[in-house]
Amino acid sequence: MCEVVFPPCPFSLTHGSLTEQAKGDRPSHSASIGRTVPHALLEIRNLSYSLGGRAILRDISLDVREGETVVLLGRSGSGKTTLLKTVNELIAATSGTIRFEGRLAAEWDPIHLRRRMGYVIQDGGLFPHWTVEANVALVPRLAAWPPQRIAHRVEELLTAVGLAPAEFRGRYPRRLSGGEKQRVGIARALAADPPLLLFDEPFAALDPITRLDLQRLFLELRRSVRKTALFVTHDIREAMMLASRIALLKDGALDLLAEPREFRAADTPEARAFLAGLEQNGSAENWSQDEQRPRL
Ligand SMILES: Nc1ncnc2c1ncn2[C@@H]1O[C@H](COP(=O)(O)OP(=O)(O)O)[C@@H](O)[C@H]1O
Ligand SMILES: [Mg+2]
Repeated sequence: MCEVVFPPCPFSLTHGSLTEQAKGDRPSHSASIGRTVPHALLEIRNLSYSLGGRAILRDISLDVREGETVVLLGRSGSGKTTLLKTVNELIAATSGTIRFEGRLAAEWDPIHLRRRMGYVIQDGGLFPHWTVEANVALVPRLAAWPPQRIAHRVEELLTAVGLAPAEFRGRYPRRLSGGEKQRVGIARALAADPPLLLFDEPFAALDPITRLDLQRLFLELRRSVRKTALFVTHDIREAMMLASRIALLKDGALDLLAEPREFRAADTPEARAFLAGLEQNGSAENWSQDEQRPRL
């Protein structure tokens, strides 16, 4: 689809390409052949969702372009999780459209759609009675990959997320720390090399040091596998650190869409409220947007 701009990335974190080539379940994109500019992998248009007569999402329009991380920032209850769930069709929007890989979400087989969107949630969402290996292998197994290919992929991904395969592959989730669970969750989301990753506050419950480790892992993986991500957080610092663009949600509506640098100068009351928290901790100057890394 966007080969002209984003050739398949051969980067190897471990001992192979972390970018698996999609096989078989991709829609055709004749219209996009020869494109020379990045186009939106995900296009959300005038999306609204109401529940029991109450508006939860209000007329949201948002693009997520190839290779970028759009951070959905907002207070608790602002509609972040609901928006993420409309994207992978766990929730059906009341009105508006979502287009993924150039094709209306409604035209996708929901199962295929979800396999092309890795999903990482706050508690990892691992199956408790499955080993780490079985959890990471979930989607490749559903896609009927040969066992050897699955085993190789699991090893590659565990290494990439900083978990020694020999030590972790056979463990059950109850024997993992919070940070390790999230690493496994990320490995599972990456397993079948989906073009889009959805993250719902994946690091919110972690202690600050583990959180920073995982945020760094996120940036490292983004550089290596060049994934596109929609990342939910209520943490302005996390948004500043990880975002290509920040989409600020307020009461179910898009309050502001801006790059981190522009966001700092934003003057909507909701943006100012978030920025006040950042300034209070004196941390605004400790993050480098150029390097997308913390300066410690
Ligand atoms: N199943 C539900 N039933 C009723 N209200 C819901 C349900 N899910 C979410 N909501 C409401 O929708 C709003 C947005 O929720 P949510 O998307 O979870 O917000 P966030 O993820 O930003 O904290 C909240 O006011 C929440 O109470
Ligand atoms: Mg939420």
